[in-house]
Amino acid sequence: MTFTTNLADALTAYVSNSTFSSLFILTDENVYKNCFTATSLQKLVDTKNVFILPQGENTKNIDTCIFIWNELNRLGADRKSLIINLGGGMITDLGGFIASTYKRGIRFINIPTSMLAMIDASVGGKNGINLGHYKNQIGTITQPGEVFVYPLFLETLDRRNYLSGFAEALKHGFLEGRELLETAYTFAQMEINKPFIAFLKRNIEVKERIVAKDPLEKGDRKALNLGHTVGHAIEALSHEKNTPLLHGEAVAWGLAAELYISHLTYNFDEATAKNFETFVQNYFVKPDLAYTDIDKLMDYMQQDKKNEHGKINFTLLNDIGNFKTDCVVEKEIIIESIKKIIALCQQ
Ligand SMILES: NC(=O)c1ccc[n+]([C@@H]2O[C@H](COP(=O)([O-])OP(=O)(O)OC[C@H]3O[C@@H](n4cnc5c(N)ncnc54)[C@H](O)[C@@H]3O)[C@@H](O)[C@H]2O)c1
Ligand SMILES: [Zn+2]
Repeated sequence: MTFTTNLADALTAYVSNSTFSSLFILTDENVYKNCFTATSLQKLVDTKNVFILPQGENTKNIDTCIFIWNELNRLGADRKSLIINLGGGMITDLGGFIASTYKRGIRFINIPTSMLAMIDASVGGKNGINLGHYKNQIGTITQPGEVFVYPLFLETLDRRNYLSGFAEALKHGFLEGRELLETAYTFAQMEINKPFIAFLKRNIEVKERIVAKDPLEKGDRKALNLGHTVGHAIEALSHEKNTPLLHGEAVAWGLAAELYISHLTYNFDEATAKNFETFVQNYFVKPDLAYTDIDKLMDYMQQDKKNEHGKINFTLLNDIGNFKTDCVVEKEIIIESIKKIIALCQQ
């Protein structure tokens, strides 16, 4: 992980010091418009090797992979080529998967441009694509060769996407401890986007530390799934209903549900859970949910890739900073938590 205020120089040094036979860039239309110039990569990479994809979660699918794999073949990519993923989590997930499978794996680096990608998606090596509406069903765990974080990219990120990234920061706070949690609340409430370098670094450290202990998610890495069992179901349903939520927004609501489950099953402090619910109601877009959606959400959770032996698997909290992985929760309690979220959304 390299933090830099001079991205152009850092990238030039990286690509010229190494033994890459050719360079390819994967980005999306918004990022190309707002971020490409700061990289100076236009001086180093042939225009035909720059793939500018439609923005948004719908691009993260197998059709895009097939298109890019064919393009790589057509343009003569080989096992010494480098793919540079410039974008938010959609691009880093997609590009990491394309690179880690092409010719059994070629090298790639990530240049995250969104809050969410800087503190979460670009770090840790998980990549993947969606299968229909099911999130990240196909993927690998492959570490990027390097991650370059250039915090100034946050200045052009729209407010909704900026806040979406804070859902993962709040999750880190709940896993790590009160101080980080309070800082995440404070920064999320400020009215303008700010590249809080120390805060970004602290979040990346939390993720890197958890991943380093358990890179293949056999144990403690599952902590990072907090909020994501219900969150992924809410996200998938929002896409199915054509009222798409951003990943972080769905995670924020999922986190609210899972703090409530934590309260019901492990005595997690009720006031802390309620405080978070109010925050989510005030700062995150509400999903379009009705009581008739409960079965559908349960079906999505049943397909969650974290499940084992057909049981829906949760990471839950006893307290702030004290998590418990592999929790199997009774169906009635899960339904109660979903009803709670639906009620909050309808207020
Ligand atoms: N691999 C992991 O560990 C991991 C972790 C968390 C999330 N994810 C995945 O990440 C994805 C969400 O990431 P995201 O929120 O970054 O979404 P995203 O990549 O779709 O980016 C959000 C939007 O912001 C735009 N954008 C990005 N950077 C910009 C900038 N600097 N200026 C202007 N516009 C900019 C993009 O074009 C897009 O429209 C989801 O697919 C999620 O599943 C992966
Ligand atoms: Zn996430």
